[in-house]
Amino acid sequence: MSKYYITTPIYYVNDRPHIGHAYTTVVADALARYHRLRGDATCFVTGTDENSQKNVQAMEKAGQNDLTAYLDTMATAWYDTWRELGISFDDFIRTTQPRHLAGVERFWNAVKESGDIYEGTYEGLYCTGCEAFKTETELVNDRCPLHPNKDLERIKEKNYFFKLSAYREQLLKLYAPGSKFVMPESRRHEIHNYVDEHLADVSISREAKSVPVGIPVPGDASQRIYVWFDALLNYMTVVGYGTDEAKFSTFWPANLHLVGKDIIKFHCALWPAMIMSAAKNDPLLRDADGAVKLPDQVHAHGFFTIDGQKISKSLGNAVDPREFIPSYGFDAVRYFLLREISFGEDGDFSRERLASRYSSDLGNTFGNLVNRAISMSKKYFAGHVPPADTNEAALPVNEQSVWDGKGGLDAIKRAVESAYADNRCDLVLAAIWDGVGQTRRSGLFQANKLVEETQPFKLVKEDPEAVGEILYALLESVRWYAWFLQPIMPQISTKIFEQLGLNAQEELSKGWDQGLKWGGLKPGAVLGEPSPLFPRPEAEQV
Ligand code: MSP
Repeated sequence: MSKYYITTPIYYVNDRPHIGHAYTTVVADALARYHRLRGDATCFVTGTDENSQKNVQAMEKAGQNDLTAYLDTMATAWYDTWRELGISFDDFIRTTQPRHLAGVERFWNAVKESGDIYEGTYEGLYCTGCEAFKTETELVNDRCPLHPNKDLERIKEKNYFFKLSAYREQLLKLYAPGSKFVMPESRRHEIHNYVDEHLADVSISREAKSVPVGIPVPGDASQRIYVWFDALLNYMTVVGYGTDEAKFSTFWPANLHLVGKDIIKFHCALWPAMIMSAAKNDPLLRDADGAVKLPDQVHAHGFFTIDGQKISKSLGNAVDPREFIPSYGFDAVRYFLLREISFGEDGDFSRERLASRYSSDLGNTFGNLVNRAISMSKKYFAGHVPPADTNEAALPVNEQSVWDGKGGLDAIKRAVESAYADNRCDLVLAAIWDGVGQTRRSGLFQANKLVEETQPFKLVKEDPEAVGEILYALLESVRWYAWFLQPIMPQISTKIFEQLGLNAQEELSKGWDQGLKWGGLKPGAVLGEPSPLFPRPEAEQV
């Protein structure tokens, strides 16, 4: 059994979760669920980034003045939203928790002992939107291009600096061609160029008198730790760094940090350099051979716009992911989010596209197949899985072609596994929906085509035995699809198992490789009740 440790960014609590945040979280959830199905000891974490000035500004704007109360309320809102959406996180970290502080102090001291922290004076501009210092070259029309509505702060103060530039060569090695530390490739190039050309030391503290929040610098309470230095450490403190060495050693290093494209500099440059520095003095951060335990991978995805516009507080166009639960169920939204964007690229969220994919991909193509397979079997075989030779999975359709049930599904399984291994849930769905080519006829379109070509509803009068074989193959395919889709649409997958007459928990307890063997459905077994998986949303029903 291997371990799998996956993280989302921790979210600022200056706002509530919107569909863009839900995207990152749903991708992480799907990958975590996949690894659990494979039997990996999985740890999936998310949380909130609370020591940020923008949280304080949001509190003030809301007319409140009790920061602790504000942070508690907002962190609860994030926690509850993810739970309501069925996100299967194993832990939820808040950077104001004592367990986090303990780890941050330990880490700061390790970096300090390495001689990588020095005092200096910072003079320049700061964007509270990014929570980052900005150089003149990064500005567009004298403003931060990501937050053009926010005034930049001009700062001149004594700070502690981190010798980031000392790690330039080691970082560049991380982004060598062929390395998967930064994905996708385009982002690897982007970060390579940035480190190659612009890497400079970075201020990692602020004067306590000028920032209202933040963890005090160990040994110097007049300074507070820079919020990104503290926030990145959540990935360690949540699995026990500073509080539970055994747990930390079990899960660290992370297998995957999932992030949006907006925060790759922090994750792909600052973060590994911080770890390299602390590892010089902290044995917990080195493996038995003395190598630094860096995360395996940072995978950056693109951004959703809404109806073509950037999601922004000032435009007030944020969409609450819970909005769609009553009409579509959240599994359909998960499907939409993962299918609509080619992972790594940008994409657009629109209610029309959601409605259209719901009715075409889900209702007409998939739901219909499941419904037809189960309803016909029930009707022609008295409510039972049809008798069939479960070894004989290739069905002649006509003179030119056969429908290769088992071979086709094995091919889809391989495509699905490779897509999941590359974090490409979009490709998992594509493999299931498209089928895999001409002769391997087993994707959803192909399975629907099998029904059209063989017309079991007519054939049943002449050749019930052949219809039994066809329907068995379809039902068995449906069972495999329920497995493939379980990480992405867990509730729908459970419903499918139930309609097939299986107990979902028992079925899933077989594990991925055992479960995905042709012949899992037993001829003669009692089928469940077919009912539409994707009913028309109420508003649309006349
Ligand atoms: N607090 C920092 C992260 C610290 S991690 C150590 C932060 N928080 S955030 O609340 O702004 O959330 C950022 C993440 O939310 C992005 O990296 C991305 O994963 C997700 N998204 C925010 N808006 C998004 C879209 N419009 N589209 C897709 N993802 C989006 O940055």
